Amino acid sequence: MTRYGFIGTGSMGSMLVRKFTGKGLIVPSDISASSKSGISSQKLAQKTGITAAPSNTAVAAGADVLFICVKPAEVKGVLGELQGLLVQETLIISIAGSIPFESLGKWAGLDHRYVRVIPSVAAEQESGISLVAWGRGCRPEDRAIVLKLFNAIGTVVETDEGDFDLYADLTSCAPAYISAMMRELTSAAVRTGTIKPALAEYLLRQTLIGTARLLDDDNARFDTVIARVATKGGNTEEGVKVLEARLPAVFDEVLCATRKKRQATAERLAGKR
Ligand SMILES: NC(=O)c1ccc[n+]([C@@H]2O[C@H](COP(=O)([O-])OP(=O)(O)OC[C@H]3O[C@@H](n4cnc5c(N)ncnc54)[C@H](OP(=O)(O)O)[C@@H]3O)[C@@H](O)[C@H]2O)c1
Repeated sequence: MTRYGFIGTGSMGSMLVRKFTGKGLIVPSDISASSKSGISSQKLAQKTGITAAPSNTAVAAGADVLFICVKPAEVKGVLGELQGLLVQETLIISIAGSIPFESLGKWAGLDHRYVRVIPSVAAEQESGISLVAWGRGCRPEDRAIVLKLFNAIGTVVETDEGDFDLYADLTSCAPAYISAMMRELTSAAVRTGTIKPALAEYLLRQTLIGTARLLDDDNARFDTVIARVATKGGNTEEGVKVLEARLPAVFDEVLCATRKKRQATAERLAGKR
């Protein structure tokens, strides 16, 4: 029997527990979880049948596989608290962005096996990508556990840690980017003064869902959808021309901003600043 621990039961931690238990991938009685206040872990326990543990150390003590689902700034403190308590056999799965293997090893001990996973909120709908990077010494059975869990709630893309940040922009951050773009298009429509915000958002939301289905249906490329709608000489083509002129600079800036922020966070948390 494999025992699972979850430290952090906020948005992502609770989503993973709900999905893993809901899909029958882990029996609720094999999971214990903790959170800072204890409130979210208790609520999750009531909902799913897992055990809400009184402390992080209680979670870690019984876990063969330990998920770290706290914000990046909390990881050092949480792992420091567990040093000396974790048995060498514990597999540690961190979903925290910006915390490299090097820091995990420094904070919890080098003897452990670490996996970094960057899930996406799209896993709530059993879709989207989970990025996975394997730390030193990961075993075939570790791979089997991680791939089984995360492929059941989306698709795993295995990659080197070095690619994580850019890929995360396209997987874990992109639901927010896409929604922000749609919100701006909604606002532009509302600024014309001829449509109510709720209706504009409804029209776009349904269109976004339909577009995602089109893309999914035959693995169509973005260019294919654009070509089908923005026909030569038509109205849509004019709108696409504006986007093509303006958006490259915008997205260069988006990727630059997130890269800088991640680097600063990683350096600050590693104690270099
Ligand atoms: N959101 C995303 O789309 C996404 C995607 C990929 C990866 N991630 C990563 O997932 C991690 C969690 O993000 P989130 O969005 O789930 O954050 P969140 O909703 O703020 O949840 C954080 C959780 O950590 C708990 N916590 C904080 N300090 C703790 C401590 N010292 N001991 C035990 N538990 C503690 C909080 O407890 P309380 O419930 O008591 O406050 C809360 O349950 C982050 O590292 C983030 O980088 C997020």
